[in-house]
Amino acid sequence: MTIDLIKKHASVRKYKPVPLSAAEVKELVIAGQHAASSNFVQAYSAIHVTDPTKKEALAKLTVNAQQFSTAGAILVLCMDYYRIEKGANLTEKIDYQNAEDLLVAATDVALFTQTIAIAAESKGYGICYIGGVRNNPTEISQLLGLPKGVAPMYALTIGVPDEQNEVKPRLPVEAIFHENEYDGEKYDTLIPTYDETMNEYYQSRSSNQKNSDWSESMATFLGKPRRLHMKEFLQKQGFDFK
Ligand SMILES: Cc1cc2nc3c(=O)[nH]c(=O)nc-3n(C[C@H](O)[C@H](O)[C@H](O)COP(=O)(O)O)c2cc1C
Repeated sequence: MTIDLIKKHASVRKYKPVPLSAAEVKELVIAGQHAASSNFVQAYSAIHVTDPTKKEALAKLTVNAQQFSTAGAILVLCMDYYRIEKGANLTEKIDYQNAEDLLVAATDVALFTQTIAIAAESKGYGICYIGGVRNNPTEISQLLGLPKGVAPMYALTIGVPDEQNEVKPRLPVEAIFHENEYDGEKYDTLIPTYDETMNEYYQSRSSNQKNSDWSESMATFLGKPRRLHMKEFLQKQGFDFK
């Protein structure tokens, strides 16, 4: 059942040395293309990184070494208006400098990637997203020859799991699901309960144990701004927030 497969998802960060064939990777990417796309812009591209030197460089630039050295396949997923610009220029100029255009492309690439991820998991592979691509987006864009109009969002490592993490408990569905109107009151009770669940999970999971909970982790994560270079990088690549 697809729902059971989806609920079994846990990111894999160490893979067995089993490469995926080019045909298999292509099959997964084709599956990804069948995700819905806002206005059918299909504002995404995937770069299949097979060159060992580039893999090594990516491992360093994303600061996720173990995953890149063991993955059976590595894709870098990008927002892409370059191709649309090429096509549209045949008739008229396009403008993708609005915040809305950024949201459209970011949504498109996320749906594309998640569909690839589920397709890979349906074949028994493990996956992990690597947002670490945005640690050094300029260098990674140079490495992959990305033109203006293209911006890397994350990588996806795919492979045969060598380590399988436990499924992370999600927020109780009531915390993210509302009927007719947003109910913010319920968080006063739901969040402490979830924090207890996460504290137990963090203390008992098989690797990277810690005495923390969800609220504390989020406070640490969102307590200070991250990747402040992204605005300038995106503007340099032709995106904007008008
Ligand atoms: C957009 C995105 C970027 C991510 N970046 C990284 C990353 O750089 N390194 C990493 O180890 N995990 C990364 N992850 C994986 C998340 O940490 C993981 O999905 C989350 O903790 C939930 O755990 P689960 O996927 O095992 O259920 C990323 C996930 C997403 C969706």
